[in-house]
Amino acid sequence: MRITDGVVRILKHLDYRIGRLRDSLRTACQESKRIKIARRESAAIVVAIAALVAGSPAQAQHPEGTPLWAYPSNPPGHELEPDDGIPRRVPGSDASYTVTELRDRFLAPDWHPREYPPMPDVVRQGREPDVSACGYCHRASGTGGPENANIAGLPYAYIVRQMQEYRSGARSTAVPDRGPTRLMIEGAKAATDADIETAAAYFSSIEPGPRIRVEESATAPQTFIVNWFFAASPDGSTEPLGQRIVEVPEDVEQFEARDPHARFIAYVPAGSIARGEALVKTGGGRTVPCAVCHGSNLEGTEEIPPITGRSPTYMVRQLFEFKAGVRRGAQAFQMVPTVANLTLDDMIDVAAYLATLDP
Ligand code: HEC
Ligand code: HEC
Repeated sequence: MRITDGVVRILKHLDYRIGRLRDSLRTACQESKRIKIARRESAAIVVAIAALVAGSPAQAQHPEGTPLWAYPSNPPGHELEPDDGIPRRVPGSDASYTVTELRDRFLAPDWHPREYPPMPDVVRQGREPDVSACGYCHRASGTGGPENANIAGLPYAYIVRQMQEYRSGARSTAVPDRGPTRLMIEGAKAATDADIETAAAYFSSIEPGPRIRVEESATAPQTFIVNWFFAASPDGSTEPLGQRIVEVPEDVEQFEARDPHARFIAYVPAGSIARGEALVKTGGGRTVPCAVCHGSNLEGTEEIPPITGRSPTYMVRQLFEFKAGVRRGAQAFQMVPTVANLTLDDMIDVAAYLATLDP
């Protein structure tokens, strides 16, 4: 056992050295994808060896009970298909973009410019090197996807507060190394107050539309991770759903093209919608009826976000993160009694029901 302890100590030191190396590499070569991949691979290898040697799982970076299915992460060394040079199109738009353009963090594709106001610079192109374009991840009209958040129509004051809390660290996440959230937090830290106010005014002015179809089911499609989100296996194979939500785009290429019209199917456990409805409306003895604070139709207020028709995967992450105490901004205390007695299964039920309502 003593030998094992020694090896673990060496590996921990190695892990520490790699962490230091990662910090200096990040400053020196922010843009180098190759180095980022190498860094992730080496860190993953060290963690894996440490776990093997110690004979126990590597120390988790996330709070106990984190529902990892709600945080799909690209595996180490994940490579996207190379650009085939063919311009991509989406239904109902005259625009076209190459794959390289669609992967540019400083470009928000403008597929349907007549449907939303002209994007301000911070939304359309961000500011290099650290403020990625808001519209790149959240899409031009803020509809986002399960890997981030739907921010269309959120209250202005709420958006500004969240940005400040990402910046101060009061709002963190259960899986801090997950790419999109890490970039989100980096962007909030580097954004100016003017950037935040401009983006908040823009996104709060947009009406969100329904995009999610919820299906109760004992099975779900088998999935694979495309780029921080799940997609249904093209051969149509299925697997037991169990206690989770599987949320996949109806058309992966359309969603990958960052088209805000992209639609989703969320597979949820049998009976979850009715159980969720009871919790949301009455509290079921375990929580507070949501309308008390979120408005009679859960449409939000000037300070509190709407909770209908939003990604159920995102909703589960938030409910869990309030409970785990990693989301603890100035107003988060209001959610604490709401989630204190909810189990993860309750959270799945609540999220399933809320996703059936129009935003
Ligand atoms: C690299 C992708 C990415 C970019 C770029 C990005 N975000 Fe985000 N954003 C995310 C992710 C991921 C989350 C958090 C999802 C979670 O917590 O599960 C998020 C969350 C948010 C939230 C919280 C939503 C809520 O309902 O509480 C706001 C507000 C937000 N982003 C605004 C912005 C603004 C404004 C910009 C541009 C300055 C921006 N984002 C740029 C990925 C991004
Ligand atoms: C006592 C008031 C109160 C009650 C009751 C309440 N909420 Fe909230 N909720 C809030 C506030 C305030 C926020 C914003 C917190 C922040 O700014 O960090 C919030 C945020 C949320 C969020 C995060 C949304 C986002 O965009 O990230 C979710 C999800 C949520 N509430 C779900 C619910 C559900 C489901 C219920 C009922 C079971 C509920 N809330 C009941 C006050 C409340």
